[in-house]
Amino acid sequence: MGGLTYFDFGDDFTFSPDKKKPIYNWFYYKEAFSSGFVEKIIKMLDLKPPFFDPFCGAGTTLLYCKMNGMKSSGLDCNPLSAMVSRVKTRNYEIKILEENLSKILEIKANYNEDKRWGFKFFRPDEVFPRKSLSDFFSLLENIENIEEKREKEFFMTALLSLIPQTSFIFKDGGVLKIDKKKKLMPVKIAFKRKALRMISEASALNGIEPNVFVGDARNFKGFKFSSIITSPPYLNGVDYSKIYGLELNLAGGESEGFLRSFLLSKDMKAVKDAYFDDMEKVLRMFDECLIENGVAAMVVGNSVVGGKMIEVDRILSEMGEKIGFKTYIVVGKERGIRHLGLPDVRESVVVLKK
Ligand SMILES: C[S@@+](CC[C@H](N)C(=O)[O-])C[C@H]1O[C@@H](n2cnc3c(N)ncnc32)[C@H](O)[C@@H]1O
Repeated sequence: MGGLTYFDFGDDFTFSPDKKKPIYNWFYYKEAFSSGFVEKIIKMLDLKPPFFDPFCGAGTTLLYCKMNGMKSSGLDCNPLSAMVSRVKTRNYEIKILEENLSKILEIKANYNEDKRWGFKFFRPDEVFPRKSLSDFFSLLENIENIEEKREKEFFMTALLSLIPQTSFIFKDGGVLKIDKKKKLMPVKIAFKRKALRMISEASALNGIEPNVFVGDARNFKGFKFSSIITSPPYLNGVDYSKIYGLELNLAGGESEGFLRSFLLSKDMKAVKDAYFDDMEKVLRMFDECLIENGVAAMVVGNSVVGGKMIEVDRILSEMGEKIGFKTYIVVGKERGIRHLGLPDVRESVVVLKK
């Protein structure tokens, strides 16, 4: 292993810098890295297309590549993430979007929503105020009736992106909770405003559309890429199978095949073993999908598990060496937890050269 180097990525390992960036901010994905990270890592490592992001989340890598005329592909096991990534990287006919929007806004009053609710953790009336519930489901039905997938997914993303502002749900760390005191926006007004903004920004989207696959990164194969830029789930971080559960449910999808990064087990050794077992499969997939001399840049976070610091970056780097990569670590962020008697928690880019 080539050891540790340091580079200050600032906030680029987070979604924050993209919160106000057109298109990047169409769907709030807290766990995303920002386009600034993609830009910096491409320059730093002189990475070449075609690019691949096998944990593409909200599609940051793919959108950056598209905006810069570079070919890319993405994969996520969550169909909601794959949909959001596709929506942010397609080309649109603005007139067709506008025509669809007028039809979607013709909604029914007092729509009976309850029969199509499939989210098992909360009842509909716990999630939305009554009036919003009727408007939300009436909009949803009109969107579902659009025939063309391109436009249907565009407006579905617009509507689902509003759940944080229009419902009592809030994401507390990795857990969904209800806050009945939350100030909410009316659904119809919020949707119209969001859809109009997305339509006006969509004219900037043209050029190469990436392939976005739904699937499990542990066993993906059949394609070759020059570079991988990605960020798998962090050990003991967010439970991705739950945190976007409501949005996925409303979109009518189901997800499976999540990396075992978050397990409700008290046996921390089992949690750690499962994570590194899965990550070994992921690194073997990198080896399979990269061309000769190809490079992977993977953002990972170290983690305190059962009171012990797990140096995820070092462990994955050593694992990569065993598989045959030349590796090194670029530390991009350190968080002090000396008060707990532990060393700093690092977030790093593990670089693997084939
Ligand atoms: C840290 S997020 C990636 C965020 C992304 N870098 C961005 O900027 O939006 C990790 C993603 O991995 C996905 N994921 C988890 N297990 C997976 C698996 N086995 N195969 C593919 N994707 C997976 C989750 O659904 C989540 O979207």
